[in-house]
Amino acid sequence: MAQTHFGFKTVDEREKAQRVRSVFDSVAPRYDLMNDLMSAGLHRLWKRYTLTVAQAQPGDQVLDIAGGTGDLSLGFARQVGPTGLVVHTDINEAMLREGRDRLLNEGVVLPSTVCDAEKLPFADGSFDIVSVAFGLRNMTHKDQALAEMHRVLRPGGKLLVLEFSKVAKPLEKAYDWYSFSVLPRLGRWVAGDADSYRYLAESIRMHPGQEELRQMMKQAGFGHVDVHNLTGGVVALHLGIKC
Ligand SMILES: C[S@@+](CC[C@H](N)C(=O)[O-])C[C@H]1O[C@@H](n2cnc3c(N)ncnc32)[C@H](O)[C@@H]1O
Repeated sequence: MAQTHFGFKTVDEREKAQRVRSVFDSVAPRYDLMNDLMSAGLHRLWKRYTLTVAQAQPGDQVLDIAGGTGDLSLGFARQVGPTGLVVHTDINEAMLREGRDRLLNEGVVLPSTVCDAEKLPFADGSFDIVSVAFGLRNMTHKDQALAEMHRVLRPGGKLLVLEFSKVAKPLEKAYDWYSFSVLPRLGRWVAGDADSYRYLAESIRMHPGQEELRQMMKQAGFGHVDVHNLTGGVVALHLGIKC
């Protein structure tokens, strides 16, 4: 069996998928609260920015991959209106269920489907927009997942990848201290789980930086890729166009 990374550890590919699954099984009930606390609410601005860049139009067909508790799905549903469609998907049932309940509380009913980004169960060219927020980092074969996202987009369609990235040099020390000292403690107090938040910090360090991800998207077939650095590179939004 091929080896891969789970944070800083080297594990079998199958073990990585199981470990990622247990991370999100464990954090699902407290995921939204932790997101607000960890990012001091910034994740809401990063997601709002993603929705602004995406410019979904009424009637558009949108696929939200690794959609979790549904922030982007909800925003897209408001943009595409009753003539459009947003499909809310995730590989993890616990996360998808949290998201579906939250959407229902907002009065929004969307098709919710468990699916693996590396094997999308949709026909070629089905969507105008595909999004993946803070999900790509957890995938074992990122190149395969990006190729699948490209496949299900129509020509001219847009992929939005919102993900942690490489911070600007002057921020590095403070960011490392925050990631490895504060985050796991916060995870223990709020979610009763320090390890999952240690994995978060490690997985960010193992994820491709801005330029490397741009190249991966080009390799997956995106003719044009823009990179938007947010909050000093803590997060980057990659916009790929299927030309
Ligand atoms: C950090 S959460 C992000 C949730 C949501 N998009 C957000 O921004 O709040 C990452 C999500 O990626 C999902 N995920 C991990 N590997 C996946 C895969 N191979 N296919 C689809 N989803 C995956 C996890 O189950 C988890 O819900």
